[in-house]
Amino acid sequence: MSASIGDILELASRLEAISDSPALDIQVILCHVLGKSRSYLYSHSEDKLPESQLTTFFELLRRRQNGEPVVHLTGTKGFWNIELSVNPTVLIPRPETELLVELALSLEQDQIKSMVDLGTGSGAIAISLARERPDWIVFATDITTGAITTARRNALSNNANVNFIQGHWCRPLADMRFDLIVSNPPYIKANDPHLAQPELKYEPLVALISDIDGLTALREIIVNSKRHLNPGGRIILEHGYDQSNKVCAMLASNGYHSIEAYQDIANTDRAVMARFDATRKN
Ligand SMILES: C[S@@+](CC[C@H](N)C(=O)[O-])C[C@H]1O[C@@H](n2cnc3c(N)ncnc32)[C@H](O)[C@@H]1O
Repeated sequence: MSASIGDILELASRLEAISDSPALDIQVILCHVLGKSRSYLYSHSEDKLPESQLTTFFELLRRRQNGEPVVHLTGTKGFWNIELSVNPTVLIPRPETELLVELALSLEQDQIKSMVDLGTGSGAIAISLARERPDWIVFATDITTGAITTARRNALSNNANVNFIQGHWCRPLADMRFDLIVSNPPYIKANDPHLAQPELKYEPLVALISDIDGLTALREIIVNSKRHLNPGGRIILEHGYDQSNKVCAMLASNGYHSIEAYQDIANTDRAVMARFDATRKN
């Protein structure tokens, strides 16, 4: 079989049934196989692919047609200004989570000396912040071995100094206290119809689902973080599109103050930031 780059780009129609961006998917997969940029595809559309690259391309196309996310085929995902290695043990970092990084970076630099990212997954938030603020002491936890292994590898490849500990939310932190706690925990309800989306079936359920109401992880983090925040310390939490009021209420009933809600790039309620002072009367 023989095919040029131009011929392959014509195959986008094969992905129309499973992808919102079939042409882009074909380009990204082809760039990955060739080890070239997208601009190269258009300046070399007449070039024929060697047999071995064609075989690799068609194997990846078959997997994409079965619904596997492009990111799992290429193995990497851009987040903030870093490149992360991803695999089926970690959530593919989402653009909306960059809001948490933005909020953390909006804090006065001298107010933060230490932070922890709870449920770090690929390490997206912790690594981005450790690179942006090299003077912060950065910790990160996750329950799964796959996440901790992946995040450690990503910290190394991105030259970021992060201390990873495996365990359940705050439990591995013992008596450590921080100026900032950040978390994007699982927050989807166990029976949420969105879980039927084809691409979600390739993501780890432990990264997506939080019991029947979707709020169990957020509730546990809000309650237990109080013991790990320095006076006046901040918490920044990502949540589902319809959970902002409930998260704000949970923070208030747990004695947090200065509670503020934030929207993501799609203008959807997505994050809440608050402060905690053990001795303060609200
Ligand atoms: C929504 S993902 C977020 C991953 C990453 N922080 C990001 O934003 O891309 C939630 C993460 O929480 C972790 N997780 C789930 N339950 C946990 C628990 N009980 N303790 C610690 N981490 C947990 C999952 O393994 C997953 O990596």
